[in-house]
Amino acid sequence: MSSSGTTARLLPGGPVAERVLAEVADDVVALRAAGVTPALATVLVGDDDASAGYIRIKQRQAAELGFASPHVHLPASTSQADLHRVLEDFNADKDVHGVLVQYPIPGHLDYDRALQVLDPDKDVDGLHPVNMGRLALGLPGPLPCTPAGIEALLAFHGVPVAGREVVILGRGATLGRPLAMLLAQKRPTANAAVTVVHTGVADWPRYTRRAEILIAAAGVPGIIQPEHVRPGAVVVGGGVRYEGRRLLPDVDESCAEVAGAITPRVGGVGPTTVAMLFRNAVVAARRAAGLG
Ligand SMILES: NC(=O)c1ccc[n+]([C@@H]2O[C@H](COP(=O)([O-])OP(=O)(O)OC[C@H]3O[C@@H](n4cnc5c(N)ncnc54)[C@H](OP(=O)(O)O)[C@@H]3O)[C@@H](O)[C@H]2O)c1
Repeated sequence: MSSSGTTARLLPGGPVAERVLAEVADDVVALRAAGVTPALATVLVGDDDASAGYIRIKQRQAAELGFASPHVHLPASTSQADLHRVLEDFNADKDVHGVLVQYPIPGHLDYDRALQVLDPDKDVDGLHPVNMGRLALGLPGPLPCTPAGIEALLAFHGVPVAGREVVILGRGATLGRPLAMLLAQKRPTANAAVTVVHTGVADWPRYTRRAEILIAAAGVPGIIQPEHVRPGAVVVGGGVRYEGRRLLPDVDESCAEVAGAITPRVGGVGPTTVAMLFRNAVVAARRAAGLG
């Protein structure tokens, strides 16, 4: 046991992201050799510092990978119609393969409505209703990035998922719900017995305590405490809340004293999410170029 009392094996996301991004880089080289420059467009509405920072990170990553990254910055006063026009322009642009609208957008705008305007094949977040439908039916399409990143993270670290009891705390549209669909699919890195708990299940600890793999997807800081974890279980922290730049995870650090393996507080699920965004973008570019 270390001085902090930590016993659990750490499951960092960095090496997973590196592997995924190396594959993406190979695909970019092949696309460029075929005369196609993959392009991931970004849209920022308003002047939120954190959102501008996330866009910069993604643009830097895009440049490193050899993507073009056209960017539109709209003022905070933008109308829903103006936002839709930008997305329609990107839809019509054959040289743009993926489009990302940085979340959150100002409160007077409806993110879900804007998402529905986007061409589902350019939806690199994988959250368009058509893509959620494809996921539910097991059809090919961009996968929601955080759920796909969690599946990749478990596979990379050799955590068996098939046949095991997975409990997800949270049924939100970006994380819990699509993750449940993904991990229940009939594939070697999924194929789990998945249970989803939420505010409608008052005694949710009864379920989390029996989980072999517990995934926090609530966005409630510290909601998962050691008494909610089965000794030796694998714990994945997906849910986070930001207070300014301070990251407050769902999983309390002390859970590492009970878990067998756990994602680190920083550098767990986050890096895999970004990597999956670029994977979705390069797959979209390959498909648009008729390469697969
Ligand atoms: N790490 C990353 O890269 C990444 C990416 C995407 C999202 N996230 C994080 O993932 C989290 C979930 O995102 P989302 O959009 O899917 O969330 P969401 O729509 O806010 O859903 C939260 C879910 O948690 C449940 N919940 C909240 N408080 C609870 C409580 N006290 N007891 C039991 N259940 C509770 C809610 O239950 P009800 O349905 O009953 O209300 C809901 O199903 C957020 O923290 C988000 O920041 C992280």
